[in-house]
Amino acid sequence: ELAPDTLARTDAAGFPRPLAASAPAPHRDPFAWVAEIAELTQPDDVVWCDGSAEEKQRLIDQMVAAGTLLRLDETKRPGSYLARSDPSDVARVESRTFICSEREVDAGPTNNWRAPAEMRSELDGVFAGSMKGRTMYVVPFSMGPVGGPISQVGIEITDSPYVVVSMHVMTRVSGEVLDLIEGGQQWVPAVHSVGAPLVDEHGERTADVPWPCNETKYIVHYPQTREIWSYGSGYGGNALLGKKCFALRIASAMARDEGWLAEHMLLIRITSPEQRQYHLAAAFPSACGKTNLAMLQPTVPGWTVETIGDDIVWMRPGPDGTLRAINPEAGFFGVAPGTGVETNPTAIETLTHDVIFTNVALTDDGDVWWEGLTPEPPEHLVDWRGDDWTPADGEAGRPAAHPNSRFTVSAAQCPSIADVWEDPAGVPVDAIVFGGRRASNVPLVAQATSWEHGVFMGATISSERTAAAEGAVGELRRDPFAMLPFCGYNMADHWSHWLEVGAGLASATRPKIFQVNWFRKDADGAFIWPGFGENSRVVKWITEQIDRSRGVRTDAGAVPSPVGLLPAPGALDVDGLDLSDDDLAALFDVPAEAWLAEAELTGEFFDTFGDRTPAALREQLAGLTARLR
Ligand code: PEP
Ligand code: NA
Ligand code: MN
Repeated sequence: ELAPDTLARTDAAGFPRPLAASAPAPHRDPFAWVAEIAELTQPDDVVWCDGSAEEKQRLIDQMVAAGTLLRLDETKRPGSYLARSDPSDVARVESRTFICSEREVDAGPTNNWRAPAEMRSELDGVFAGSMKGRTMYVVPFSMGPVGGPISQVGIEITDSPYVVVSMHVMTRVSGEVLDLIEGGQQWVPAVHSVGAPLVDEHGERTADVPWPCNETKYIVHYPQTREIWSYGSGYGGNALLGKKCFALRIASAMARDEGWLAEHMLLIRITSPEQRQYHLAAAFPSACGKTNLAMLQPTVPGWTVETIGDDIVWMRPGPDGTLRAINPEAGFFGVAPGTGVETNPTAIETLTHDVIFTNVALTDDGDVWWEGLTPEPPEHLVDWRGDDWTPADGEAGRPAAHPNSRFTVSAAQCPSIADVWEDPAGVPVDAIVFGGRRASNVPLVAQATSWEHGVFMGATISSERTAAAEGAVGELRRDPFAMLPFCGYNMADHWSHWLEVGAGLASATRPKIFQVNWFRKDADGAFIWPGFGENSRVVKWITEQIDRSRGVRTDAGAVPSPVGLLPAPGALDVDGLDLSDDDLAALFDVPAEAWLAEAELTGEFFDTFGDRTPAALREQLAGLTARLR
């Protein structure tokens, strides 16, 4: 039984009340708001969406007729479609993404900041008449199961039917959301326009194109009033406003005020041969295999991994002091290239029907292809731009699918989806993992010695630049908590918030924190660790460490090192792997000189946040440096 004073600090669902007073989101009447936006953007008509299958099919049929979607062969890929974007509208635009807090310091040095009043008047001009000649859709949606204690709701207004259909897959679109809002639940207003009105300067009607967008783009967040305004792009991360804009940038600011966490993480359930269950949340920067780990097929006999989420996790301290987690999304918006039977057979099975593909290649028999789907490309394709393509083009460096081409698919049709994936109360998190792509220094796996040490591991994630990003390949890019493009407030305050949330958790079940690195290379530049399904061996050691922390196991699992606890000799199951003793030693080598050099850079990085960097993280850095010396 909970003490009366504990009860007073919990809400109706039994979850603890906010640590800090929540910024009161002004209660807005959604009907008045919709009328106001229609007045500003001047669409031809307004359609309220209900999330029904009929509504989705109607919009799909309309987009097929308009040339926005191409129906794939019904026998090869039933219920599936291909969209080709404008060639300029293929990715998130970080340089045009703004966090408009009242004070610049609250956005922090890692975000683009603009004063809210200034941005509001600028956007008033940009959105004026932006939907002329189009239909304005009103899309009420829930992130997380509708009405769940960890869920949140919003309404997206958009002039793009592609966005509406994608929101159907990626979120829970439902009229019930309006009932919750009318019942007083806080909600996030989100306005999206492709910025391509169908009238010319004389007011004459103009023809539409398959993928309307605008050269000028704005992805704007007001974290204090919890609003999103997006203009000029139809691409996922810019336009499906429930995802990065709400579930990460706005939600991280809400979570800071309300005592929970919104993170760029995957979420899995692990079952051991003894039928013990564990839940693991893991943050990795882009191109480090997050979707692959979310759909891991273990090579270790008797172990099962089930998928709960592949991109975003919301975590709240629960009534019993555990950290409860949900995947707020309802689908996967994954990168297609590199997804194949060898790398992610579960994803391939997920994609057999009812998928919207964007910017992949089209085969002559009406199916899709991308680099990495099969070892050899077909003899002829239509590439992502709609042009003829042969393998010679690929050899000349012109890929058939855009490197950031995507699939949009319901999570429910993933064969490894866990039956608890829609439990509104979430699952208890046992392990939190931070990873990056590091050829050197960072061991295959290390366990943090405390919550503070784990937060330090998250704050110091860095990853080597891949060929896809600007800058020198191999150069280290800092990506704290893998949230660099997604934190809606000062990153250093995010670290303080993590310290505070951890301190409030029950110590017996507080998640253990780990750092992993699948990408260590040998002197010849070859990956040492086989990765993919073999990563289950690391997952197994992580769960055994949790068992040890709970007294379920009493054998020695770990040995100390300057950077954390490493597997004790023999504790990591490498049975049947082709790994020499030298390989194993190389995977866990902690070169003091190189680490000291990196620690110095970490100090400089912390300095960029001035006195916002929590003292506990400065102490962690000092401790690391002392241990290395
Ligand atoms: C996105 O751009 O919508 C997206 C999911 O981004 P990323 O894959 O980089 O997280
Ligand atoms: Na800045
Ligand atoms: Mn992501």
